[in-house]
Amino acid sequence: MSPDKKRLRVGVLFGGRSGEHEVSLASAASVIRGLDPDKYETVPIGITKEGHWLIGSSAQKLLPEVLRTGQRVTMSADPTDAALVRLDGSGGGQRIDVVFPVMHGTFGEDGTIQGLLDLAGLPFVGAGVLGSAIAMDKDIAKKLLRAAKIPVVPWIAIHRDEWERNEFATVHQIEKEFPYPLFVKPATLGSSVGMTKVHSRQELAPALNLAAEFAMKIMVERAVTAREIEVSVLGNHDLQASIPGEIVPHREFYDYAAKYLEQGTQLLIPANLRPAQVKKFQHLAMQAFRALELNGMARVDFFLEKPSGKIYLNELNTIPGFTSISMYPKLWEASGIPFPQLIDKLIELAIEQHAEKARTKYAIELPSGASGALDM
Ligand SMILES: Nc1ncnc2c1ncn2[C@@H]1O[C@H](COP(=O)(O)OP(=O)(O)O)[C@@H](O)[C@H]1O
Ligand SMILES: [Mg+2]
Repeated sequence: MSPDKKRLRVGVLFGGRSGEHEVSLASAASVIRGLDPDKYETVPIGITKEGHWLIGSSAQKLLPEVLRTGQRVTMSADPTDAALVRLDGSGGGQRIDVVFPVMHGTFGEDGTIQGLLDLAGLPFVGAGVLGSAIAMDKDIAKKLLRAAKIPVVPWIAIHRDEWERNEFATVHQIEKEFPYPLFVKPATLGSSVGMTKVHSRQELAPALNLAAEFAMKIMVERAVTAREIEVSVLGNHDLQASIPGEIVPHREFYDYAAKYLEQGTQLLIPANLRPAQVKKFQHLAMQAFRALELNGMARVDFFLEKPSGKIYLNELNTIPGFTSISMYPKLWEASGIPFPQLIDKLIELAIEQHAEKARTKYAIELPSGASGALDM
């Protein structure tokens, strides 16, 4: 057998139509560097901001170049193909064994790509359709966390049309519920896009309008004064939780500028916590992972309220940042799993989950002639 037949062909999906397109490029470049070339043949699969799919050669390490000069392909939804099909009319394809989606946010982390990969019959890294969609919707996620008795910051969710049709009543409802300051954010976005810390009534309507530009549902939350603690979780059935880390933003909160534009935010690994607190965070992180029906990986973000010491779960990210300075891989490194081993493990988990799905029957076997009553 040639070495290439033995190597697993890993499609690394990056870019995409979300606001986190650029972040995805940085994360994907780092995942590609972590794929051991003795074990894997990498197929970089870029999705442009318009939604075109392009593939590069496995030697192509410059991802913006793949987006400019790669070959146009489409993902076949036919599971007997298990492949990307060239759009140049040649009928050619590229077989893929497993997909690593490294796209954050809308159309990447929200279950849509995962649905396509399920149709295509391909194993993929990370949460499935259901878990991805749940984790992407902060309102639904919090409802499930609350049902699992995991503490979350009090919130209300307001549909955009409700706000637009009745501004006065909405403001009244919010003010009845929470004192200022409060947070207003789109329910289904990441990277702090469309989010405002609202200090007074004057700021409320503009904040709701801004959030409404980015999602159909708006979250309004009490603002907590808190340390921000993050835990990485890995696994399908048997979960592992990393040591917790801490984010110390240099701005009023961990907004888009603090995340990507400015330096100054500190990552503390490990977070300075008492052993009992570490245990508590790890336990809650794994419980939350199960409550949201996740698979493979997630970064679980918490608030540790000052000075009460109360813990709240803020959110779970099913495709966390994967750049060389990102919290998810760094926490694993500090917990004894170096980056290339982490990537191996995630691919193993993807294949395990795929095998688990394949055990499920989708129909009962009808005895011959039994379909006679169906009008086909
Ligand atoms: N209720 C809140 N109280 C205090 N800070 C908050 C609250 N909600 C969000 N933040 C701040 O905003 C940041 C981003 O909010 P988050 O809900 O995690 O959205 P995203 O999905 O965009 O990361 C948090 O890391 C935190 O700094
Ligand atoms: Mg966050």
